[in-house]
Amino acid sequence: MEELAAVEEQQIKARLAEILAQCEPDRSQLIPILQKVQESFGYLPKLVMSEIGSYLGMTDVQIYGVASFYNHFRYIPLGKHPVQMCMGTACHMVGGELVLEALERELEVEVGGITADKQFSLDRVACIGCCGLAPVMVIADKIFPKMTSTKVDEVLVNLKLEEAEAAKEEGEDKRL
Ligand code: FES
Repeated sequence: MEELAAVEEQQIKARLAEILAQCEPDRSQLIPILQKVQESFGYLPKLVMSEIGSYLGMTDVQIYGVASFYNHFRYIPLGKHPVQMCMGTACHMVGGELVLEALERELEVEVGGITADKQFSLDRVACIGCCGLAPVMVIADKIFPKMTSTKVDEVLVNLKLEEAEAAKEEGEDKRL
């Protein structure tokens, strides 16, 4: 369940106010508003949905009903390392689904979810425009081409090692 600290809640409200100020209080603006919110927060916070509802004169149920038509909206925050598996036609045709299953297994999280330690979120996305490298996985802004289910473990282990190394260096810098 999404629980927000008071400060975080204020920050979210302030950012949302900026977004709403750019849009008319008209129901036709719902999708553009949701897109801007997702761009800004990385997901659609529950609090935001209620505020948007008040602004447009819609109930939460109506808003979720519309948002649920679109696969790219997510309702929980992104992990520190957002993992996206391309499921466009080219990636799907050459084993993207198997890679996605391996990711779910290794991370112990379902598509659209986030790991308990908040390190990784997992999403499936439509074609990201580099079909020649299919199947393609993206973590943050880094592209992993020609993925296979057996490469998943290697990529995740390397990422964790890089992270541990960076944390160690940071610790050493602080001691200097
Ligand atoms: S279908 Fe995956 S990059 Fe185009």
